[in-house]
Amino acid sequence: MASHSRGQFSSKLGFIMAAAGSAVGLGNVWGFPTKAASNGGAAFLVIYLVMVFALAFPMLVAELTIGRYGQSNPISSLKKIWSKQPAIAATFGLIAILTASFILSFYSIIAGWLMGYAVAPSLDFIGFADAAIWVTSFSDSRNVVLAVLFSLLTVFVVQKGIADGIEKWSTRLMPLLLALFVLMIVYIFTQDGAMEGLKMYLIPDLSHINGGLLVDSMGQAFFSLSLGCGSMMVYGSYLSKDVNIPRTAAQVASIDTGIAFTAGLLILPAMYVAKQNGVEIFNDAGQLKSSTDLVFTVLPSMFDTMGGIGILLGLCFFVLMVIAALTSSISMLEVPVSCAQDELNWNRSTATWGIGGVILLVSVIISLNFGALFGLVVDVTTVYLQPLLGAVWAVFVGWIWHRNKLLGEIKQGNPEIADSLFWKIWPWYVRFICPVAILMVFIYPLI
Ligand code: PHE
Repeated sequence: MASHSRGQFSSKLGFIMAAAGSAVGLGNVWGFPTKAASNGGAAFLVIYLVMVFALAFPMLVAELTIGRYGQSNPISSLKKIWSKQPAIAATFGLIAILTASFILSFYSIIAGWLMGYAVAPSLDFIGFADAAIWVTSFSDSRNVVLAVLFSLLTVFVVQKGIADGIEKWSTRLMPLLLALFVLMIVYIFTQDGAMEGLKMYLIPDLSHINGGLLVDSMGQAFFSLSLGCGSMMVYGSYLSKDVNIPRTAAQVASIDTGIAFTAGLLILPAMYVAKQNGVEIFNDAGQLKSSTDLVFTVLPSMFDTMGGIGILLGLCFFVLMVIAALTSSISMLEVPVSCAQDELNWNRSTATWGIGGVILLVSVIISLNFGALFGLVVDVTTVYLQPLLGAVWAVFVGWIWHRNKLLGEIKQGNPEIADSLFWKIWPWYVRFICPVAILMVFIYPLI
């Protein structure tokens, strides 16, 4: 048994903000707009919304419920559900931990770029023009140094523990980010070319829907809601028993999806505005030149056209984004750290520094072999492992967990649920539809 006492979020709002903090991050501002731009815009948006509503939301309820029932890390929580097969349950828990750790290893690299763009204008202003260029230009050294800095920040926050570290960082950030988005959207809509981007984003051309788009949008939905890899299970374990889980999950999913939608409303128009201004966004065949750094090309080019106010806006935007990335990265590191605490009896400091250090090493290896490893790690973890693990959790909830025990857990914080429409549909839906639908999305492109 663990020797430490288990932390808890201090209020319902605190939890929603922390879980939304985990969900809102690079997935919304880098992943979603980039994938939408490379998959026909509105067609991707439509299918993405379907994936969030039909697959990610029910699985978010499932993961939070598993975590709160288990009151522990993913390994123990899963073992508690499948007590007859503890070894198999633990193996899946371990795969989730590895997935969260590998996600963190590439996430730190991109978040490091955000840090670079956040400090560049100030560096320029105080006369360090070369440094400003270095932090915003692609190089192995820049990638490594900034990823190290971002990882240290993550370790620092996680080490401080649950309510203190995580909750504090998450509250009040999202409204500010949203306000900034609105400002930027209003500006970009006044620029030449913006309407072309807006049309691409909002008028669906269904001919773009194909197997690849389905797989991409499902992975993006699981990534954006922090599913599959145990983050939401761990956060569920810190959730108090008087919280209504389905309602909380719906709030978190709405905030996350709202922010992704808003980010698309900015970035797709901004892409065409940048093109008008002579920035090379597309190649001769009309495809995106580089999807990985699309956002990092388009946004700075927009801030450039805004004059002095652009410098200030850019600074606020990138600083807020670094914080948004941080509230996500801490929820990744929390997965292995909570396991080491509970299962190996490590204290929080040792677990955080030790595991954070190993993940950082992986980040450095990826940075130094960017071309070969970056896309590979992103795809294996977010496109494949997150949804596939989601299918496994659906099997745990739908087939292995005793229905009465599941009802007993979800009833807490929601005593009338047994008579609700939700309870009539959800257990059956998670049992049959979720695992089959997830597998079918993968099989469809093959046939
Ligand atoms: N949801 C986060 C984002 O959108 C990423 C994340 C993935 C966080 C997995 C935790 C676990 O940026």
